[in-house]
Amino acid sequence: MRPPRIRGRLGLGGSLSAPAQGPPSASPRWDPAQYAQFRRERAQPFYDLLARIPDCDARAVADLGCGSGELTRELHARWPKAEVWGVDQSAEMLAGATSLPARARLSFVRSELRAWQPERPLDLIISNAALHWVPDHAQLLGHLVRLLAPGGVLGVQIPNNREEASHRILEELSAAEPWASRLRGVQGPQPIASAAWYLERLSHLGLEAQAWETIYYHRLPAPSAIVDWLKGTALRPALAVLPEADARDFESALRERIAHAYAQGPHGVIFPFRRLFFVARAPFAA
Ligand SMILES: C[S@@+](CC[C@H](N)C(=O)[O-])C[C@H]1O[C@@H](n2cnc3c(N)ncnc32)[C@H](O)[C@@H]1O
Repeated sequence: MRPPRIRGRLGLGGSLSAPAQGPPSASPRWDPAQYAQFRRERAQPFYDLLARIPDCDARAVADLGCGSGELTRELHARWPKAEVWGVDQSAEMLAGATSLPARARLSFVRSELRAWQPERPLDLIISNAALHWVPDHAQLLGHLVRLLAPGGVLGVQIPNNREEASHRILEELSAAEPWASRLRGVQGPQPIASAAWYLERLSHLGLEAQAWETIYYHRLPAPSAIVDWLKGTALRPALAVLPEADARDFESALRERIAHAYAQGPHGVIFPFRRLFFVARAPFAA
C-alpha cells in the first residue's frame, strides 16, 4: 500500500529534507524511537482530550505538532468524512507517518505550525503535547482561533510538569557549571501559563471554553526510566547541542540525581506528570 502523502510547506512534492520554514520555535531535533518508548502513557491524555470534544460534524481537521502521525489517524477514524491534516516541522517524526498505509483524505504537511495556512477554515484543531515548544501563547491562541470555522473547536493538551522533581533537577543541572556555559541560549520547553489564564484568554477571544489539569501517576520500572522518558522530550535540546562525550556525562549526572530523588519501591517507581487541557468552541455565525 502507498504511504500517506507528505507535503512540503509549498505544496505537494515539497522535499522532506528541506528545513521547515517559519517563526522561531524551541522544538529540538526529535528521536521518534526514543519518544515511542512510552507510547501508551503518552497517548492516554490524547484520548482523554478527545473524550471532551463536543459533538461536531467536522469536515476539516488539523493535528498541529502531529509527530509520527498515529494519533492523527485516530482523528481520521473518528471523523471519517473529514479532510485531516497532520502538521509537524520535524522530518524525523513525520518519517513515521510515511511508513503507515495511506488513507484517503489524510495528509501530512511539513511546516512550522504557525506558518501553516489551511486550505479552508477548520472545524477542529487538535494539538497534543506540542504547544509547550511554541513561545508566546497569547499570540498563538489568537492565530489558532482565526483558523477556526464558525462553531469550530480547539482542543489542546500541554505537558506542564516543570514543578516535578525530574524537571527541576534537569533545569538545575543545566543552570550549573560546567553545563550552564555549554548550554547558553539553548531553549527547552516553554513555561506554561495557568489553566485560568487560558480560560480567560479564550473567553476574551469570544470562545466558550473549559480548562482543566490532570496529574497522571505513571508506574515505571526504575528511576532510570524517568531519564529515558526525558530523553524523548525535555532532555532533547541539551543532548542536541552537546558534543557526544559531554552529552554522555550530562546524562549520567542526571541519572545519578534522579536516582537519589525517586525512591525505588518493590513495584518500581511512581512518576507523576501534570498536564493542562483546554477545549474551546468558536461562536456559530449569527
Ligand atoms: C512530543 S511530540 C507529540 C507528537 C504527537 N502530537 C503525539 O501526541 O504523539 C511534539 C511534536 O511537536 C512538534 N512541534 C513542536 N513545535 C513545533 C512547531 N513550532 N511547529 C510544528 N511542529 C512542532 C515536534 O516536531 C514534535 O513532533
